Amino acid sequence: MTIESENDLEKLRKIGRIVGLTIQEMGRHLQAGMTTAELDEIGARFLESHGARSAPQLCYQFPGATCISVNEQAAHGIPGARVIQEGDLVNIDVSAELDGYFADAGASFPVGKVSRLKQRLCHHTRRALDRAIDSARAGRMLNVIGRAVEHEAASCGFTIIRDLASHGVGRSLHEEPKSIYTFYNPHDRRRLHEGMVITIEPFLSDGGQHVTTHADGWTLLTEGGRASAQYEHTMVITKGRPILLTAV
Ligand code: CO
Ligand code: CO
Repeated sequence: MTIESENDLEKLRKIGRIVGLTIQEMGRHLQAGMTTAELDEIGARFLESHGARSAPQLCYQFPGATCISVNEQAAHGIPGARVIQEGDLVNIDVSAELDGYFADAGASFPVGKVSRLKQRLCHHTRRALDRAIDSARAGRMLNVIGRAVEHEAASCGFTIIRDLASHGVGRSLHEEPKSIYTFYNPHDRRRLHEGMVITIEPFLSDGGQHVTTHADGWTLLTEGGRASAQYEHTMVITKGRPILLTAV
């Protein structure tokens, strides 16, 4: 969506903050020995107590309140009986709706002591998101986002999962502009404009560039069982730095 009034911005700030706080709350409780269903329950209760509804449930009948993806799972992991282990890299992706407005954010969390590789993945994926946010300005090409992520990936030797794109958000979970690639696409002639509400969510991996869908019909697995990390914010594009709605 494109923001048209102060009310739009206020409502988006509200749901953005709830989404950011939900991830923070889940991250605080995340520990080895718990199941992903138990972690999801914490998120579900937090959303409910703030009057928000899970967007994946609302929009896609997803079998969970939040998406929890562990290690070789890149995204859309279904909360369930999987027990989280020390050394796992757990991605928590939360999207929710309040008063007809949607926000979407995600973060990868190392559990206890993780490998140097997983630490590096987190560090560089976070940096890729930061660099993409810094490059996103009204009037510029949309593909500056992919270019910024690609620069970061090139600097550390990680691959970009090319099948997973960032997207417009606000009045629904996924809306125009769709398929905001996090790799550089010179053929994409679209521009960023003031008030545009989008997510930026790079996925970096130690070799994977594509995902396959698990037999459960939801979980996206990184090719070759490789690890990946993702960080995501919902933001409003301005002439200056974007307004981050899900940062808390
Ligand atoms: Co998203
Ligand atoms: Co998300």
